[in-house]
Amino acid sequence: MHDQPLQKLAQHYRKAFQAEPAVTVFAPGRVEVLGNHTDYNEGFVLSAAIDSGIYFAIAPIPGNTCRLRAADLDAETSFPADNPEVITDAPWAAYSMGVHEGLLAHMPQPIAWQAVFCGTVPRGSGLSSSAAISMATARAICTIADINPDPLDIAKIGQMAEHRFAGVRCGLLDQLSSLCGKAGHLLEIDFRTFDVTPRPLDANTSLLLVNSGTTHTLGDGVYNERRSDCEAATEAFASILSHPVKALRDVSMQEWIDHHAQLPERIAKRAAHVIGENARVQDAANALQQGDIPHFGFLMFESHHSSMVNFENSCTELDQIVQIARQTEGVLGARLSGGGFGGSAILLIQTESAERICASLDAAFQNNLGHACLLQVIHPADGAHVI
Ligand code: GLA
Repeated sequence: MHDQPLQKLAQHYRKAFQAEPAVTVFAPGRVEVLGNHTDYNEGFVLSAAIDSGIYFAIAPIPGNTCRLRAADLDAETSFPADNPEVITDAPWAAYSMGVHEGLLAHMPQPIAWQAVFCGTVPRGSGLSSSAAISMATARAICTIADINPDPLDIAKIGQMAEHRFAGVRCGLLDQLSSLCGKAGHLLEIDFRTFDVTPRPLDANTSLLLVNSGTTHTLGDGVYNERRSDCEAATEAFASILSHPVKALRDVSMQEWIDHHAQLPERIAKRAAHVIGENARVQDAANALQQGDIPHFGFLMFESHHSSMVNFENSCTELDQIVQIARQTEGVLGARLSGGGFGGSAILLIQTESAERICASLDAAFQNNLGHACLLQVIHPADGAHVI
């Protein structure tokens, strides 16, 4: 799977720098299987690193200038190793620069480097290409600088880059999933303790990604609006309930039922989604352990419904995809994956029927949406690593 992009990367590196890289790294994108907008509410998520991602080839160089190239764009930029600044003419470089800046605190002295990256995750498909860029950059710089920060610190550096350069106040789901992925496993992540527990995915069950073709941009404010709504809900419950409420994680569904009428309607609906998602993730993790895959799938459909009516972060195309999936034999569950407002849906399917399911979905999408959707069976993959 790595052969083609690695070849492209090596060729580009040689041509640009007339040298060989010291280290090449792969960092995967991620799918969110269950647990939507729960990460920044200190809740629970089931996710998986995927076998598409970012390839990053790097070598240390003398001096104080970092040179970064994007092979896919055939573009280059550079910045001072000891003082990276935000550059507006190369927005594609901002994540890597932000990560370099964040890692300076972990280095005995600033290190200069030259690097090329390329990717196999379509931008805007909801698979976290930007987190994969950040985590690939971080792994690569840590390797040449011979430093070993805690994965949580690395994830937070990537998150900061996202907050600063994309203006999206994201949680840590994308970065932690890209770092901690385990082949053949879903990751159950607790965003209060940051415990990551790999849960094996039954070989009879596969994940199928459907790229709606509707590009999502979370940078236009909708993501941050949802986050603010959740903060408003947290504050409201903290003043209503007698026990401490630090995040929506601390509110149960029964408490929501008892008190939601005291909240503005929109804020109450946002809270219902997050509280419901936290419960669904825990329920699903148990179902997975007990081999109750149909129940897991049911919870995915419930999650999507809650996104539609409570969190209002779906879109017509994703709703149609989930609806079609629901009517397709062999599909066990389906929901939007990630921030929402476009991007991809993730389906849980019977492995043995994958071919038939894909053919049937493909025909239904062409008929009902008027265009094809990209279908890709996802193999949960290992987290960011040196190749
Ligand atoms: C985006 C963010 C994540 C997470 C998801 C929704 O992917 O980057 O931090 O909040 O949306 O669950």
